[in-house]
Order: sequence, then C-alpha cells, then structure tokens
Amino acid sequence: LDVRIQGPATASLSNYNDPLVNYIMIKKYVVVPLSDLEAKIASAKKEAEKIDTYTQFSLEPLNKAITQAEALVKAIKENGLEAQDKTNQEQIRTAINNLDTKLAGLTVYAPNTSYKPGQVWTDTNGAPIQAHGGGIMYDEQSKKYYWYGEDKTNGYLPARGVRVYSSTDLYNWKDEGLALTAIESISQFETDPLISKLYEGRKDKADILNDIGTDRVIERPKVIYNEKTKKYVMWMHTDGPSTTSTAMYAKAEAGYALSDSPIGPFVYQESNRMDRAPKDATYNGQPDQPGMARDMNLFKDDDGTAYLIYSSEENRTIYISKLNDSYTDVAGWHKDGNKERDTEYKAVYGEDYVRVFPGAQREAPAMFKYQGKYYLITSGATGWDPNPARYTVADTIFGDWKPLRDPSIGDKASTTFDSQSTNVIPIDAKKGKFIFMADRWKASDLKDSRYIWLPIEFGQDDEISLQWYDEWKLDTLDRMGKVSINSKLPEKVSVGQVPALPTSINVTNSEGEKLDTPVTWTMNPVNFSKPGTVVVEGTLSKLAGKVIRIKILVIPDHVRYFVHAGGVKTSDYVT
Ligand code: GAL
Repeated sequence: LDVRIQGPATASLSNYNDPLVNYIMIKKYVVVPLSDLEAKIASAKKEAEKIDTYTQFSLEPLNKAITQAEALVKAIKENGLEAQDKTNQEQIRTAINNLDTKLAGLTVYAPNTSYKPGQVWTDTNGAPIQAHGGGIMYDEQSKKYYWYGEDKTNGYLPARGVRVYSSTDLYNWKDEGLALTAIESISQFETDPLISKLYEGRKDKADILNDIGTDRVIERPKVIYNEKTKKYVMWMHTDGPSTTSTAMYAKAEAGYALSDSPIGPFVYQESNRMDRAPKDATYNGQPDQPGMARDMNLFKDDDGTAYLIYSSEENRTIYISKLNDSYTDVAGWHKDGNKERDTEYKAVYGEDYVRVFPGAQREAPAMFKYQGKYYLITSGATGWDPNPARYTVADTIFGDWKPLRDPSIGDKASTTFDSQSTNVIPIDAKKGKFIFMADRWKASDLKDSRYIWLPIEFGQDDEISLQWYDEWKLDTLDRMGKVSINSKLPEKVSVGQVPALPTSINVTNSEGEKLDTPVTWTMNPVNFSKPGTVVVEGTLSKLAGKVIRIKILVIPDHVRYFVHAGGVKTSDYVT
C-alpha cells in the first residue's frame, strides 16, 4: 500500500493546509483458493452419505449443491482459468455459502410419536405432507392405512393431482407418489410414458383433460374398495369452466377413477352431475343447475353399500346418494340395471338418495357410524375461511336427520379450531375410537395449509364433542367412547345449594358392559349461586380417565312457571 496524501497546493499560503481526507479504508483482497471449495465439497459429501440419519427432504438440496459445486470445480480446472479471477472468486464463494446453508438445513429424521394439530406434518422423507381435503382408507389386503388428498405443492393451480401416503401406525406416513396424476396437455396422451399408457385407446381424451387437466379443480378425493369388482374406487370433486360459464367452479361435477392397487396409478373415468331435487320440492337451491356436486365424501356401510355425500344446489343442500354395485355412479341414474346412465332421470327420493337440510348451506361432509347410528359432520360454506362445524345424527342413513348441533367446545370452538372438516377415521368403531380430520387452509399459501386431527369424544345419548389438544396420542382415544350413566344423579338443585354427587357410579361402557367405577367430580360451588344450567365434569378412573359431563339445573325457589302451550289446552298448560 503506497498512499500519499497531499494538501491543496495553496496550503502554503494560508494556515488551512489540512489534507482533504477524512478516512481511508484499506481492504485486503483475500483469495479463496479452489482447494477451500474442494475441501468443503469433501465434508459435505461425508454428511450426504448419512442417509439413515438425515431426511431425504433435507439431503436433496445438499446433493444438488454438491453437484453444482463439483461442476464449478471441473469447469474452472478445465478452462484453466485462474481461481483468483474475479468472477471465479464470486462463484467459489457462492458455492461454499450454498453448501454451508444446505449443511445447516440438514434435519435429523425422527419418527412422529404423537399428533400436533396445526404444526407442519412431515412424511417419512421429512417433506411436508401434501394431502389436503383428504380421506383415509384402511386396506384389508395390505393391512395399511392410505391417506389420499389434494397435492397443493403448486398452490391452487396448476393442480398436480391426488397424492397418497401409506402408514401402519397413523403417525408416520410414507409418500407413495401421485395416485391420480393431473394432465398438462393433450400431447401428454402421446408423449408422457405414464399418461399414454393409462389412457391408451381412450376415445374421450379431451373430456379427461377437461376434468383432470392441471388447470382444473381436483378437490376432496376419497377412496373405497369394491369387493365385487376388486377395484379401488376414487371419487373427487372435478370442477372448472362449464359450457355456459368461465368461472372455475361452474361445472360442479363428481368424477371417479379406478385402480387395482391402493397407491394407483388410478385411471380417470368420467365426471357427471349427480342427483336432483325432486320436482315437487318446496325448496330448491339451484333449480337451473340440477345435480351439482362439489365438496364430497364417501361412506361404505357395514353391508357393503356405499354412498356419495356431497354439497349440491350451489352448496346450499347436502345430498346422500346410494352408489351402484360397482361404486361407479349414483344408483338412481341406472334404473333399468343398465351399465350406461339412463338418459332420463328416474331416481326415487328416499330410495336412491335424500337431501339433508335443504338450504342449510353445509359443506365438507364427513360421515361415520357408531353403535348403529349415523353421524354426519359438516362445515359452513365460507371458502377457505373457517366457520363453526355442525353435526347431525340419524338411525338410518336416509334419515330422519336430527337438528344440527355444534360439536366444538372450548377456545376457538366458533371456528372449529380454525379448520374445516374433511373426514372421520374409524380406528376402532366398536370401542368408540374415531379421529376427526380437518384442514386449516392457508389461502395465501395453500401448500402450507395444515392438518387438524382431533379425537371425537362421545357424550351422553348421541352427543359428540371436539376439543383442542396441542399434542395428543392415540391412547387418548381409549377414553373417548360412549359411557352411559346408569346411576340416578341429581338433575336440579336450588340456588346456592351444592348438589351431593356420589363417589362411585354405575355405567355402561362402549362395548355394552355394565360396571361400577369411582368418579372424581370437578366442582366449583360458586357456579351454583345463580340460576341456570351448570355442567359438572366427572372423571372415571376405571374407564381410562373418561370424562362424563352432566347438566344440573340451578333453580330459584318460589318461582312460578307458565307453560305456553300455543293456545292449546294441554295437560302441561292445565298443571
Ligand atoms: C371451500 C371448499 C374447498 C374449496 C374452497 C375454494 O368452501 O370446502 O374444498 O373448494 O372452498 O374456495
């Protein structure tokens, strides 16, 4: 460094001869030798070999960085360029930084041992699971669970199709790839090795592309197995523009695909409009568009009869439609036992299908059966935003369906814990073990939408409830089944009185056995100081800590009641 600082030439004529320099910065140019990068590559390669330690998801970017760095080393050596050359220096530094970042990003694989609703849920490769709006099928053949759902890696669009994961423990899911692959263009029927094989000889290629093109809506896929045809049958909501509208949700149809294996490849068949409101219906949410089908689910009953449950009439009315024997269409369109759909709609209301709560605007249906009763959980219709869930119960699948009730209790109950239902998994229906599956959609980044799995808790009669858990394990389900109270418990007390509750009660467990169990009541005496209904919780130690909730009416003394009998002189009115 050779610096000379000189004051102005005129300086000698005055006193103001300070040099016009404030400070000097001296930068030493460090040359990063190529050998530094080579050493970094060597250490990165050592880490990259630890495939049993790190997740594949975190190793992939490291391997990519190694390949890039090696190419750079090769190029520099081949071109004989001096590593000191400025652009090379920059490339060498970038390559080293890149390797450092990817090394820092390595994640040690740790199997999941619990559910953490709302947190990122990774598969066995360490990648976030892409199975939104999905459902689970237990496969008797392979004795595995399969989770099918929307692959939203690309966000809303382009659609990738339906992804499938397999699991034996319901915590750890192996990515089995795309069960149903969305199609990019008509030319893929010729050029793509998979697509050309799956749809070889099909005359309806344009229709297939119109239904499962990457620019189409493929939502809420569900799969069931058909014992007769030995096929895995996938149903989904296929949408996109219609012949009369360019809107993305104009077509509103249900499509199906078939496969010989639970992991696919599923071969897409066709989509159709489904059942229609009867001509004499007093309410019809969308008379101009009969048979609409959007959010949907499947339910296979104990006798093998399967049903499609879907939001119809512009999402205003849920329909439950019986499927035909091969599960390839709703039964009502095949009145003559034809394989083809009848041209004329002859479905019989109450025999082939029913409508549940016309005009109630319910979506995201999830059905299950417990102790002979059918339960149907639904969401409201507010797009990606959450809303309160509601459920209904019936003794037979075609109803009557009881009035809608809210299952959620506690904090965030009003938005179903910021989620929308998608399915219910029967883990052990006999013992009352069911999991509620929902999506916490993230509209701004759909691929990062989270999964909310919670235990379904059975109360008295046909009541169910959902509560938030930050973390829970499958053994929580041991205390979720229905426990009916046989002992007579106080139903009412006077204001200020604390009810005397027994320390042991007789109950019937989920499997119908009667037994005595100690009970610990959680009671706050202050609650009985005002009139109203007080819910008291009791924990049953002999039943895995099952919590029962009883309602006690707190009644002021000296109150007269007037029964409004609607103008009719009923016995209550007289009393
Ligand atoms: C929701 C529906 C989702 C998706 C979304 C689009 O109501 O449940 O499956 O269709 O709307 O906005």
